[in-house]
Amino acid sequence: MTNSPPDGNRRVKNPARLAVLVSGGGTNLQSLLDHFNSPESPVARVTLVISNRASAGGLERARLAGVPTRVINPVQAGEEAAGAEMLEALNAAGIDMVALAGYLKLIPPAVVKAYTDRILNIHPALLPSFGGAGMYGARVHRAVIESGARVSGATVHLVDDHYDEGRILAQWPVPVLPGDTEETLGGRVLKVEHLLYPLAIERFLTGEGDAPVAPLEAFDLIADTRPPAESIGGLNYRIALNNR
Ligand code: GRF
Repeated sequence: MTNSPPDGNRRVKNPARLAVLVSGGGTNLQSLLDHFNSPESPVARVTLVISNRASAGGLERARLAGVPTRVINPVQAGEEAAGAEMLEALNAAGIDMVALAGYLKLIPPAVVKAYTDRILNIHPALLPSFGGAGMYGARVHRAVIESGARVSGATVHLVDDHYDEGRILAQWPVPVLPGDTEETLGGRVLKVEHLLYPLAIERFLTGEGDAPVAPLEAFDLIADTRPPAESIGGLNYRIALNNR
């Protein structure tokens, strides 16, 4: 029942130039490359990948996809110089939007300022719970399991000066099952991250997430318009994107 917004709602030109920041293996980067870097996708292209680690597996994925890479290490360069270097790299590549995909450093304030409301992150739990400094990777899933929570999930949010605190754009719940370990829960969440992140970025760029509706209405609305439920491990999941 939601229609595509007029072109005026688009946040950037078509296709948007996307920079992805990674620190690790880059499976989320891969899902973005697979989704956007094909001739069929008119919405965005990943045109730059930046890492703080020269050995990050995500850099190899970028190279294989023919996407330029850059290593900027704030420990070696110093925080301020690294921030200036990152901003220069983003500007030189004409980047419209930045997507963090397992990037473990705080984004330099100069970059947050220049790209306000144009930096997104994906977190492997349902924020605002189980986020913040030091909450990444297996630690997140361990904390979820130890808390007794029955539901976890993935969250896409805007990035500000603080870890995991920016406005939430999209979430996808995932059950915590009896006997789950960090690995089993993490694997289940990661599968939905790969589906959620490209869709959330696409909705964000096209402005489709902007209609002001109450959360419950939004959920019903999404039921009509979202892609079919995905079956993962015998359970059906549906996507929840905030319309606000
Ligand atoms: C993902 O779980 C993501 O939510 C978090 O870091 C992890 C990165 O995994 N921010 P990968 O490098 O994309 O495989």
